Amino acid sequence: MQCSWKSVVLLALASVAIQYTAIRTLTSTSYLLCPAHSNSGCDDERLSNSTRRTQVLLLTTTRCGSTFIGQLLNQHPDVFYLFEPLYHVQASIIPRIHLPSDRQVMLGASRDLLWSLFQCDLYALESYIRPAPTNHMLDNLFRHSASRTLCQPPVCQAFKPGDSWEEWQCKKKCHPLNLTLAAKACHGKPHVAMKTVRVPVVGDLRPLLEDPRLNIKVIQLVRDPRGILSSRIETFRDLYRLWGIWQATGRRPHTLETRQFTTICDDFYNSVSTALSRPAWLKGRYMLVRYEDLSRNPLQKTKEIYDFVGLTMTPSVEEWIRVNTRATNDAQAKDKFGTMRDSAANAESWRQKLPFDMVEYSQGACQRALGQLGYREVQSAQELRNMNISLVLRKTFVPFL
Ligand SMILES: *[C@@H]1O[C@H](CO)[C@@H](O)[C@H](O)[C@H]1NC(C)=O
Ligand SMILES: *[C@@H]1O[C@H](CO)[C@@H](O)[C@H](O)[C@H]1NC(C)=O
Ligand SMILES: *[C@@H]1O[C@H](CO)[C@@H](O)[C@H](O)[C@H]1NC(C)=O
Repeated sequence: MQCSWKSVVLLALASVAIQYTAIRTLTSTSYLLCPAHSNSGCDDERLSNSTRRTQVLLLTTTRCGSTFIGQLLNQHPDVFYLFEPLYHVQASIIPRIHLPSDRQVMLGASRDLLWSLFQCDLYALESYIRPAPTNHMLDNLFRHSASRTLCQPPVCQAFKPGDSWEEWQCKKKCHPLNLTLAAKACHGKPHVAMKTVRVPVVGDLRPLLEDPRLNIKVIQLVRDPRGILSSRIETFRDLYRLWGIWQATGRRPHTLETRQFTTICDDFYNSVSTALSRPAWLKGRYMLVRYEDLSRNPLQKTKEIYDFVGLTMTPSVEEWIRVNTRATNDAQAKDKFGTMRDSAANAESWRQKLPFDMVEYSQGACQRALGQLGYREVQSAQELRNMNISLVLRKTFVPFL
């Protein structure tokens, strides 16, 4: 009884003001003591089902190759995958994150939503979607077609079981999304995986990792920040306009907002430092992956990732990796946010693109993170462009078991 009472209060709060939800959830202990909005309430059966389930959170930032690694999880038949559900939290609370304090406000709401989604309580998304969905039918879940399960029966009847999954096909045919069916499909899978670029550091996840009702494994994906910068300049032209000018003209604009870059380095450094200090709450739950290592050896790295999260490799996943790590430049150009690319060459292409003084600046701003993650600094333009010299030092990050 206590449970449904709480759900009612939560629903009321959510409809009064999402902002309130955000502020309320700044406290580290979640007030979501049972799955909100759930039909079946909080019975023990449900809780015991969710403790058996493994939840995988792919923690990263934009332009790190997370689409690819997310797909590695999505490809597996035992995984229910969601692509960046926290997009909706940010869109409804703070369209553009500017201040560090904004990130803190988002964090509370983000953690609560992750908590619910990890238990397959997908209705929790509805509080963050405008206009509010009716009958749990959603027409605008961000990138819903990136999730295989959401594109297959019983969730989407446009395809037959066993049909191959293509994101663009699903986008055309599988809407609106019936969240009730999606939640059922989620309950049917032993793994729930989500990707997010909207949680800055692993320490922010501590309340979720300590929750005995969840069994979360975090994969933190990092990349050489110089490569991230180069890739963002290409992809987010407006947001990184001044950096683009610097790249094109060789002159640094006076009004350049360097925090766009330094945040990457600070977040990496802080998050990885936390993990390397091996706190008890991360034991068995954290794995660090460098994008460059994944690119060079996708099959081997995928096996390690699967081992860590408790999945076994399947022939179809192996095949998918083969197809998707060797593509022509043509496919790459058409597929900005996609996974088709010659992964190894792509990971280091920034070395031919960024001017040396920009690289020098970024090395200065990012020294600690580069050192910690095993990315070597270059001292000259010749060294930068000479691909015979590797800037990715051999470094083994053993999962903290
Ligand atoms: C829990 O698992 C049992 C047995 O697998 C299943 O019958 C039941 O529907 C599950 N409950 C929920 C709420 O998913
Ligand atoms: C969504 O799926 C559920 C479960 O099958 C069904 O009961 C419901 O009618 C569907 N909703 C709509 C609007 O079709
Ligand atoms: C890189 O190595 C190849 C093969 O050893 C060599 O032919 C080439 O000249 C080297 N390039 C540079 C820039 O040193």
